Amino acid sequence: MTKPNVFVTRHLPDAALDMLRQACDLEIWPDELPPPYDTLKAKAATVDGLLTLLSDQIDQELLHSAPQLRVVSQCAVGYDNIDVAAATAAHIPVGHTPGVLTDTTADFAFALLMAAARRIEEAARYVHAGKWRTWGPTLLMGQDVWGATLGIIGMGRIGQAMARRGRGFNMRVLYTDAVPVPNDAGAAYTPLDNLLAQADFVSLHVPLTPETHHLIDRRALKLMKSSAVLINTARGPVVDPQALYAALAAGEIAYAALDVTDPEPIPPDDPLLTLANCLIVPHIASSSVRTRTKMAVMAAENLLAGLAGKPLPYCVNPAVYNTAED
Ligand code: GLV
Repeated sequence: MTKPNVFVTRHLPDAALDMLRQACDLEIWPDELPPPYDTLKAKAATVDGLLTLLSDQIDQELLHSAPQLRVVSQCAVGYDNIDVAAATAAHIPVGHTPGVLTDTTADFAFALLMAAARRIEEAARYVHAGKWRTWGPTLLMGQDVWGATLGIIGMGRIGQAMARRGRGFNMRVLYTDAVPVPNDAGAAYTPLDNLLAQADFVSLHVPLTPETHHLIDRRALKLMKSSAVLINTARGPVVDPQALYAALAAGEIAYAALDVTDPEPIPPDDPLLTLANCLIVPHIASSSVRTRTKMAVMAAENLLAGLAGKPLPYCVNPAVYNTAED
């Protein structure tokens, strides 16, 4: 029996690739950079399964030119790079990797919070530049985390994990979401504007949707305290980058710590990179060895299920199983 053809858009941990090799004819894109769109589209046109990353654009045009495609499995929890409606219309299930990265991502968001509060990056640069001459009574004074107010925007799995970390550090935790979410972190629901006005640390945990695009805009930034810190481990376009630059440059907020940017990667001449009060790291919040391996294995499981005609264990468009064949 011939094996199904699968295109994997980047080299993944071996545990996942070994699973796939046993059941599929695999082609793995060898570069560090994603395949160009036209290459991806040409590959998609000839395969039964695609294993994708968040930097791969899976749009209607690509899905329409992929007659054999039976499953798209994304190795990430977020899937704003995929036109899910078009996939559903084409009866193609889309998989993702929820749950396994929750605590790892929340750990990292909290690490950014701590780094921002205690000026870790600035302090390290200070030492590297040979500026450390003595113990200074007012040297690099930061903000206390304990006792401060953490405002969480988006109280899903990762938002709740962030709330638990905040409570563990004796913070007051507020959150906002479309509706109040029962949670075990003692976090109090409040509308967005009140959260922005009260929080010392605002942490973003919403998916990117038309509703959350530029949720943090000039108006939102103006509501924040001038001492406030913004942490983004969600998606870059949730924040308006020009408004953020203006607010940071004018001291309207104190600091931003960003794991995600818009665009990604951030161009080397982006004005945000000129600011001392903006810490930017390259979208690595879920990047621990254990979690990235679990994500890849989960993506392989979704892919194999899809190829076998079984429901994906973690499917973002279960409606695909209800729609009658055209
Ligand atoms: C990473 O950002 C993910 O969505 O898994």
